[in-house]
Amino acid sequence: MNTQNRIIELTEKLNYLNHRYYMDNVSEVSDFEFDQMLKELEVLEAKYPQWKREDSPTLRVGGTITKEFATVKHRYPMLSLGNTYNEEELREFDERVRKGLASSELRIVSQEMQQVSLFDTHNSQLTTHNAIEYVCEQKFDGVAISIIYENGILKQAITRGDGIQGDDVTANVKTIKSLPLKISHAQVPFEFEVRGEVFLTRQQFDRINKEREEIGDVLLANPRNAAAGTLKMQDSSVVARRQLDCFLYSLAGTNLPYEKHSESLAALKSWGFKVSNTYKVCKSIEEVFEYVHLWEDKRFELPVDTDGIVLKVNNYKQQNFLGYTAKSPRWAISYKFKAESAVTQLLDIHYQVGRTGAITPVAILKPVLLAGTTVKRASLHNANEIERLDIRIGDFVHVEKGGEIIPKITGVNLSKRTQNLPLTHYITHCPECGTELVRNEGEANHYCPNDKTCPPQIKGRFEHFISRKAMNIDGIGAETIDLLVQKGLVCNIADLYDLKFNQLLNLDRFAEKSAHNVIDGIEKSKKAPFRQVLFALGIRHVGATTAEKLANHFGNIEALRKANLDELTKTPEVGEKIAYSILKYFGENENILVLERLRIAGLRFENEDTPTPESEKLKGKSFVISGVFQHFSRDEITQKILANGGKVLSSVSAKLDYLVAGENMGPSKLEKALKMGVKTINETEFIEMLT
Ligand code: IVH
Repeated sequence: MNTQNRIIELTEKLNYLNHRYYMDNVSEVSDFEFDQMLKELEVLEAKYPQWKREDSPTLRVGGTITKEFATVKHRYPMLSLGNTYNEEELREFDERVRKGLASSELRIVSQEMQQVSLFDTHNSQLTTHNAIEYVCEQKFDGVAISIIYENGILKQAITRGDGIQGDDVTANVKTIKSLPLKISHAQVPFEFEVRGEVFLTRQQFDRINKEREEIGDVLLANPRNAAAGTLKMQDSSVVARRQLDCFLYSLAGTNLPYEKHSESLAALKSWGFKVSNTYKVCKSIEEVFEYVHLWEDKRFELPVDTDGIVLKVNNYKQQNFLGYTAKSPRWAISYKFKAESAVTQLLDIHYQVGRTGAITPVAILKPVLLAGTTVKRASLHNANEIERLDIRIGDFVHVEKGGEIIPKITGVNLSKRTQNLPLTHYITHCPECGTELVRNEGEANHYCPNDKTCPPQIKGRFEHFISRKAMNIDGIGAETIDLLVQKGLVCNIADLYDLKFNQLLNLDRFAEKSAHNVIDGIEKSKKAPFRQVLFALGIRHVGATTAEKLANHFGNIEALRKANLDELTKTPEVGEKIAYSILKYFGENENILVLERLRIAGLRFENEDTPTPESEKLKGKSFVISGVFQHFSRDEITQKILANGGKVLSSVSAKLDYLVAGENMGPSKLEKALKMGVKTINETEFIEMLT
């Protein structure tokens, strides 16, 4: 097969697999196989860019940097919707629609009656008096997008902007895995435009915020803001990692064959677009009310935030009769759900200190029932928010719960404010250690700069250090950390590696077994790869992904330590903010001392050569290698096993699959393998397994 055909084959196969995975939830191949094909395609495309296709799945991983988004005029303006807030207003909308259609029909009927003899068949379409169908849909709380397809290929994606013109965010939108880059359906029109809502699921939003918390970044306010911010990011590979998604809810174009909006939705779905299956065709306003009532509660079961429902006249002819006002269509309206809200009193403001020293003010409320749960606390975000609300202890405040889990304070009831409530002064010193707080220019949060002895910062650093993506020490939990810090057994992370079994045994609640678990866990962590160690150090703004990029780029800690600003920012995805933070970290003597102690303890501070994957022939199989071999060194055998998906263990146990036995191997391993029923193979048999 020639290269161009191979590019076509890979593109189509990967797009098909992508669709199966993201739309049908089916994986037809392993992640490994998928990545192998993607890598092969990337290599071929880099070599022969002229053959790269517009629907290449490599576009999904991003890589395009857009310094400034081009402004593009919309072919059809992107209007907004009128809002209603209760059944009465919805009923009024229904009446307006009926009236509008009745007068339009009269006009049309009289026009067409004159032609009845010629166009008799048209009569069937005229008897639509009062037969109005509505389509009810969720009002997704994301960012509106308009996407143009030509010849089945995704050509351009534009944000709403001011409704007349928006920003060209095509590269970022192409990272949305559920969105087809190419449609191969036979009936797809040559040119059309789809509109929909780009969003982040609550799950993705929480994941992103958790990662931000880990690296001490300011948290994103809600999924909608996060989606809007993501869509306007300059680096599409960062966008790809955020995992945006998109529901489509309208189709536009000339000479489309559909008479109803519901037919367009069905067509969109059959062409491979993600259309929420929560929409419903309703034949009366009563059915619309039923839909509204159903989703008022059920919306919380959806993975994405919604803030209401949208009601659309189904028939396109009727839509055209009704037309538009300056701002919105007369054939559609939104019904906004009431955010559940309550009024309660602010009893106090507490200030929490996070791992990186970031201060979060928390409102302590008089307990109040809201959306089925008792609310006692709400986040106040930062000093700006407190100032904006002019909130004072003793105030009566409005608390709301939208789709979010944490309730928010939306305002102060000033009419209930008693006189002389003192103004809230944001704290100036750390509530935990008394150090004066700092606030960096351009940042919303205050920080406690005392990262060496401020207790929550010490504990936070330990918790981060032992966490799964870092050193993954599972014998220790938050309580143990508290105890160890409290008893003065550990003060910085390097102290963990000096802990002795007997010291633990002397502590309350520690028995032999738990003490062993801690020591074993710490010992095992010495095998964690360099990228994990680097992440575990807790350098501000260096998350797990950045740590991996740095580890790959510099290879070892010495090279990283010596790097200057320029060299650091040459690392993929490392900007000045991260670079300065790294420089600051290595510029502090205490950190260098900790690193030296960790190195002596045996932690990995350089990359191992990771073998390039060859196959998955040994996937799920474990091996112990012993003795000397004719064709391979032991190291080479290890590399072979890893490159073919197997695992290499150091000691024989009943769970082991194979003992690879060379010459002169120690008798004890062989004996143990025999006793435990582990299969022993020689070098030739091992080679056969790979061929
Ligand atoms: S239809 C003429 N359908 O709500 C307007 N909009 O206030 C056509 N939205 O900008 C919009 N879910 O971002 C429509 N199912 C849905 C929607 C929806 C969310 C957003 C959209 C639009 C805004 C209008």
